[in-house]
Amino acid sequence: MKCAVIGGTGLIGSQVVRNLNAAGHEAVPHSKSTGVDVISGQGLDEAVAGADVVVNLTNSPTFDEASLAFFRTSMDNLLAAARAGGAGHFVILSIVGTDRVPELDYYRAKALQETILAAGPIPYSIVRATQFMEFMDAALSWTADGDTVRLPATPVQPIAAKDVAAAVAEVAAGTPLNGIRNIAGPEVLPLDELGRITLSRKGDNRTVVTDPTAGMFAAVKGDVLTDENAHLAPTRYTDWLS
Ligand SMILES: NC(=O)c1ccc[n+]([C@@H]2O[C@H](COP(=O)([O-])OP(=O)(O)OC[C@H]3O[C@@H](n4cnc5c(N)ncnc54)[C@H](OP(=O)(O)O)[C@@H]3O)[C@@H](O)[C@H]2O)c1
Repeated sequence: MKCAVIGGTGLIGSQVVRNLNAAGHEAVPHSKSTGVDVISGQGLDEAVAGADVVVNLTNSPTFDEASLAFFRTSMDNLLAAARAGGAGHFVILSIVGTDRVPELDYYRAKALQETILAAGPIPYSIVRATQFMEFMDAALSWTADGDTVRLPATPVQPIAAKDVAAAVAEVAAGTPLNGIRNIAGPEVLPLDELGRITLSRKGDNRTVVTDPTAGMFAAVKGDVLTDENAHLAPTRYTDWLS
């Protein structure tokens, strides 16, 4: 199967390309650094021409309001190119609970990306993942202040990028879901506790202070970022850390 992986040089995209090729498919990575721009449209038609499946793993350069325009324009351009190129399956990677945190611009932008795909002309699959384990360092840095890191006790269910990539590759190689598949890590943990585990495993002496108002996850109400009925990935956070 011919697969055009847009954003195929990124954290998830590069591993999806590897997994698809290892499974005997012909996956080609495309991104800004290979001369393809989903915003200007440069190189898009050539990138998706003849692909059976288009996998979109691009990401917005910012998480603010501008991310809405990024996902709208990129999806409009990609869907038009994929349709013209004859693709029979279009896959995106979204976020578990993305439609349940309207206070966050980025989550609204990902929900918009899903809506555009579902309303579009191509059979599709949406893989929704929980927070990547690789994302924990960034979450710690946002609210670090001297010797303390402030984090809310928001329940999260971290998943390793390699497990996300395996799930996306499997969905891309299958028949379109025309719906959503949730994937998640094997354990639900409060974000502040995850911060404590991370710092302690890294020998970092800073203290995590529980603060329901700290950082972007303060906007999340309840356990909307977790799903114990999701397809559960094998890698546990402490194993990933070591
Ligand atoms: N972080 C999380 O916890 C989480 C959870 C669930 C879902 N997701 C979703 O997972 C997806 C992939 O994330 P990631 O961490 O793998 O992203 P990433 O490592 O930041 O990679 C982004 C990719 O997009 C490409 N790109 C960016 N702007 C582009 C443009 N204008 N034209 C063409 N290519 C462009 C980049 O290409 P260059 O390198 O060449 O610029 C790169 O290949 C995102 O859509 C994100 O919303 C994330």
